[in-house]
Amino acid sequence: MSDEVNTQYTDKELSNMSNEELARLGTELDGVTVAYRKERFPMTNDPAEKRAARGVALYFALAVIFGLAFIAVYLFWPWEYKHLEQDGLWWYSLYTPLLGLTSGLSIISLGMGAVKYTKTFVPEEISVQTRHDGPSDEVDRRTLVALLNDSWQTSTLGRRPVIAGLAGAGAALAGLAVILPLGGIVKNPWKPKAMGIAGDGTLWTTGWTLVEQGHKVYLGRDNGNVAEEHDGHYSTDGISRLVRIRAIDLDAGSMETVFPLTEDMVNDGAEYDPKRDVYEDHMHSIHGPRNSVMLIRLRHEDAQRAVLREGQEDFHAGDYFAFSKICTHIGCPTSLYEQQTNRILCPCHQSQFDALHYGKPIFGPAARALPQLPISVDEEGYMYAKGNFVEPVGPAFWERRS
Ligand code: FES
Repeated sequence: MSDEVNTQYTDKELSNMSNEELARLGTELDGVTVAYRKERFPMTNDPAEKRAARGVALYFALAVIFGLAFIAVYLFWPWEYKHLEQDGLWWYSLYTPLLGLTSGLSIISLGMGAVKYTKTFVPEEISVQTRHDGPSDEVDRRTLVALLNDSWQTSTLGRRPVIAGLAGAGAALAGLAVILPLGGIVKNPWKPKAMGIAGDGTLWTTGWTLVEQGHKVYLGRDNGNVAEEHDGHYSTDGISRLVRIRAIDLDAGSMETVFPLTEDMVNDGAEYDPKRDVYEDHMHSIHGPRNSVMLIRLRHEDAQRAVLREGQEDFHAGDYFAFSKICTHIGCPTSLYEQQTNRILCPCHQSQFDALHYGKPIFGPAARALPQLPISVDEEGYMYAKGNFVEPVGPAFWERRS
């Protein structure tokens, strides 16, 4: 703070000062010297100023238009998935690019308008400030407010309602473009939909819950098949993404991720029909958020010493054990099975579960065992779920009791 500047002002003296006097005092108190200052348009009603104002308003108007376009695309564009050769695929494929384009252009227009406004209307100024330490006193605080007022007045935004309105609307809409997509993840987790291969949408159900409704649900292996091209056309007829897994398909000491596959979705083995299209159903099963299960075939000598959970003694089929793959910490896939130690590892926060102790946690933040799926092998050698999970899979939530 400059030594020559009087800092001893009473409240009354400060109150009697005009905003301009307080602003000047503020710059002096902060050791700021305005070396050069020039109004951009010193004459009133300058036609050049009007032209410049139109140029700035154009950018803010574009921010508003693109912001509105984003909202229109977000709400009304056909967004539902279309697969190859399905009607509307072209329109659907534009959905995400259009969201990015409109929100990006809205934010860029807003930024360009703000930069152009500053360069066009805020007075040209060169100021030099000497730095000082320590907290600000009352006189500094009062003068700072005056300086902010002064900035508002010299910016001339107060007398340019069209630009101010467009800038405000553009900022609000560009902000909405960031916030609005979050609306898509707001869902009611307690509201059930029709029961399907991904459960009914609540936290209590999975595709395996269909066993309770009388369906035979096989353990389906994902073989990674995709649509095939025939004479320039893509088709999923006869493509089975999930196939029933047999006990002999797994080596001792190995693990495979499996998904629920109901009898009516089966298109493999003796029941294969090259004209049937079950691909979409299989993908719904794979994408079911709580569907994935680790099928582990323990080495026989390890399986002999497995500790079985009370009430779940018959959930395994010989050396085969099936655990939910959804980590009971916060829901990552517990994808790593270590054959030597029989540990299952979640890569997110390093929780470890013991496959020889009904999937109980032995290290890391997870506190509950991985739910075990009751399984069996049918007369054809295919593995199927003989019951549903007896508890909800995945992380804890308030209503769960186990
Ligand atoms: S989600 Fe598995 S350890 Fe955190």
